[in-house]
Amino acid sequence: MKYKRILLKLSGESLMGDKQFGIDNNRLSSYAHEIKEIHDLGVEIAIVIGGGNIFRGVQAEEGGMDRTHGDYMGMLATMINSMALQAALESAGVSTRLQSAIEMKEISEPFVRRRAVRHLEKGRVVIFGAGTGNPFFTTDSAASLRAIEINAEVILKGTRVDGIYTADPEKDKTATKYDFITFDDVYSKGLNVMDMTAFTLCKENDLPIIVFDMDTPGNFKKLMEGNQVGTIVRN
Ligand code: GTP
Repeated sequence: MKYKRILLKLSGESLMGDKQFGIDNNRLSSYAHEIKEIHDLGVEIAIVIGGGNIFRGVQAEEGGMDRTHGDYMGMLATMINSMALQAALESAGVSTRLQSAIEMKEISEPFVRRRAVRHLEKGRVVIFGAGTGNPFFTTDSAASLRAIEINAEVILKGTRVDGIYTADPEKDKTATKYDFITFDDVYSKGLNVMDMTAFTLCKENDLPIIVFDMDTPGNFKKLMEGNQVGTIVRN
């Protein structure tokens, strides 16, 4: 395997599958099986999942709600997705631990870095819920922060597109995909990979990001086997 310890970032929206809202059970179990395949090969896996399929803080603000209030609601949405993913992984036979950035002791362990690392060493998939626990941060920022804290070698950002393009491929037919790009080039070309907070954390801590299509079955494994899949961003 190319990497020993990874942080997988999944978007909440992807969990919807073809639905307009919420969680599609087929998509959930297909993610669980893809993750299990990698886990069975001995890779240490931490996961951060977004909450956009359930609630988006930004929309709440448009409706007149306080941004911070909306962001906390979004963090709760990530916990719902995290719990769903935890259940799906366990029913696929993968041992997991869920840690929340906001204390919810009845349903989750609190986030304790050293304990998370110990869980990984023991072969448990660790899911980090509730983002960073702070408003004004995205789940991409949570993913970057946690990845750095647990010394993951890379963040794998699973999306619907298969990498980073010179322009938006849905709008510009001439757009081409990068196999590799530096953080500086992403910045100077104004490409959108993660929000700036998340992006800067990765750059400053020399943590590569791989953007790839998680919705094509088998892609995750191909990537982990060292094949050219998606786009890698590094210094
Ligand atoms: P080891 O010490 O490595 O054996 O880890 P462990 O996670 O198996 O030990 P522990 O006895 O701490 O946890 C047993 C179970 O309780 C696991 O499923 C944990 O996720 C869960 N657990 C631990 N702490 C909490 C907590 O604060 N709240 C909730 N809801 N569950 C917890």
